[in-house]
Amino acid sequence: MNVATSRTLPSKLPWVGTTIFTVMSKLATDTGAINLSQGFPGFDCSPELVALVEKYLKTGFNQYAPMTGVPALREALAQKTEQLYGVSYHPETEVTVTSGATEALFAAITAVIRPGDEAIVFEPAYDSYVPAIELNGGIPVFVTLTPPTYGIDWDDVRGKITDKTRLIIVNTPHNPTGRVWTADDLEQLAALVQHRDIWIVSDEVYEHIRFDGRPHRSLVTHPVLQERTFVCGSFGKTFHVTGWKIGYCLAPKELSVEFRKIHQYLTFSTVTPIQYALADYLKNPEHYKTLPDFYERKRDLFLDSLRGSRFQFQPTEGSFFQTVSYQAITDEPDYDLAIRLTKEIGVASIPVSVFYRQKNDYNILRFCFAKDDDVLREAGERLCRL
Ligand SMILES: Cc1ncc(COP(=O)(O)O)c(C=O)c1O
Repeated sequence: MNVATSRTLPSKLPWVGTTIFTVMSKLATDTGAINLSQGFPGFDCSPELVALVEKYLKTGFNQYAPMTGVPALREALAQKTEQLYGVSYHPETEVTVTSGATEALFAAITAVIRPGDEAIVFEPAYDSYVPAIELNGGIPVFVTLTPPTYGIDWDDVRGKITDKTRLIIVNTPHNPTGRVWTADDLEQLAALVQHRDIWIVSDEVYEHIRFDGRPHRSLVTHPVLQERTFVCGSFGKTFHVTGWKIGYCLAPKELSVEFRKIHQYLTFSTVTPIQYALADYLKNPEHYKTLPDFYERKRDLFLDSLRGSRFQFQPTEGSFFQTVSYQAITDEPDYDLAIRLTKEIGVASIPVSVFYRQKNDYNILRFCFAKDDDVLREAGERLCRL
């Protein structure tokens, strides 16, 4: 007779539960609310891009791609980086195509972090960094950014660097706050890491979404930073195809060697026909150069629709997220207000406290404005009722 035993698998991530994105999106679906919570476009990608994928699907490009990505896409990425930032990455040895930026981030963090190493994380932080650090036995060390500017206190960063610091994670333009790094931020970081064994993972998935003429300060543009940085990018944000989960990592040869050792055992390679399609699509730079204007118009439309409300905000500098303060309206915890707004007003958002380890609540909500204009207008109208 088989006796059923019940064993408990000890959790490697005991503090991780259902994410707020799942909770809010489900609540939005259940209540029929407008979903401005999760960060994905509410509109489709270009038919030209779909036609290219179809072409490659139908002409036999359906087997494993090379582990590092198809050469045409790696070359296109190297060319784009050279044209935009004047920095060369060798397509053969320094550009790797991944299954979304999420995979690139995980592989890069894994390449650096060993048990006991410390990694500096600016919070609020995108939710995949800390689990990746901890699964590798690392210790996240938080530098807290606060509203309204979310600027970096570089003395604070300096004070948190120890002999064990091996990694600093950068995200510009930033999710959830939209802050875009300045030239001074790059200089400050370079001065800190220059003579230390510290590597950098730079999450630049919103590189083409920044506003009011602000340049994207890629870490590749600073020689001291470039030589120690894994830059992680994503086509999902740039071409409105978050469901395709395709991204990449740019890193100097020695870093890419270690990155690829991990990538090949995480996913080995990434969906083939889409890689060929993106290589063709990237040949026309207009496809990404028009993005700042496209999203700036949406940001402004959303903010105009909020002007009659009691929310307080600074126009976001980049990304497709706008944070707003509700301090003038209520002192409810941000999580409770996000739930109430979804149920009573019919607009779902994300409470920014979830992006802090200690759930710091500054009474801020994050809204995603990558939605159709009429959806944004309707959401604004509803929010003005609060
Ligand atoms: C800051 C940031 N990094 C990475 C990702 C993940 O990108 P991908 O969908 O390409 O894995 C996201 C997605 O929301 C993000 O906001």
